[in-house]
Amino acid sequence: MTRLGRVEQTRGRFAEPPLTPRTAVIWSVLRAELDRRGDAELTVLDVGGGTGGFAVPLARAGHRVTVVDASPDALAALTRRAAEAGVADRIAAVQGDGDALAGLVEPAGVDLVLCHAVLEVVDDPTPVVTALATALRPGGAASVLVAGRAAAVLGRAMNGHLDVATTLAADPAGTAGPRDTLRRRYDAPGAAALLGAAGLVVEEIHGVRVLADLLPAAVADGQSAAVVELERALAAQPPYRDLAAQLHLFARRPA
Ligand SMILES: C[S@@+](CC[C@H](N)C(=O)[O-])C[C@H]1O[C@@H](n2cnc3c(N)ncnc32)[C@H](O)[C@@H]1O
Repeated sequence: MTRLGRVEQTRGRFAEPPLTPRTAVIWSVLRAELDRRGDAELTVLDVGGGTGGFAVPLARAGHRVTVVDASPDALAALTRRAAEAGVADRIAAVQGDGDALAGLVEPAGVDLVLCHAVLEVVDDPTPVVTALATALRPGGAASVLVAGRAAAVLGRAMNGHLDVATTLAADPAGTAGPRDTLRRRYDAPGAAALLGAAGLVVEEIHGVRVLADLLPAAVADGQSAAVVELERALAAQPPYRDLAAQLHLFARRPA
């Protein structure tokens, strides 16, 4: 049985969040880490955590979560969502920059750091990843989600934008030029190298949304449970993994 299949059958005190093609694979990986830590109350840092899609379920599971985000609007929505979920006392919303964590959280004080869909939008990902690694306790884990490069090329081409696909494929940063909404995209080796350079040891890489963005709406909506299962089955397997819209890296600061 694959790791993703095994952890799905594990039930601890973790409150099951809604599982979608965007979240199911990531939650499977995170749930395995939470299970590994038993009943410990973890200190979690979510950098660029936005409105709390991950922070709120983690707080509901009994952990303490600090969300650092540059957007006051996102943090306001997070605060409302945390109050509605009854976990306002377990979530701290901090406005700040991902590369300035040293002044916002205690170094080496975090058990689990999340940085999802952020490294592709910041000015420079290197100081952000260094800050993530510095925030972690020895043995602490990092969950990092980045935009995938190959999926962007295929997506543009399938939509008929062959010139954009050509530009994206040739650009060292994996962007389609100045009008692109993202500053960079990654392949698995490049993303792993970025984390490795900050002293993190990458343990797992999964593809997120291998298929979801390619399917006709009738299939995606009409067979959503089957789509989630197929996403899980393909997530760890190259070449499918490498064609995913996002790459999820699970890494650890050496103990
Ligand atoms: C695409 S959203 C991702 C939100 C959430 N992590 C998720 O996966 O749903 C990117 C988030 O990163 C935040 N962000 C962008 N640049 C940032 C920076 N330099 N420091 C901290 N947060 C940043 C944005 O405000 C936004 O909430």
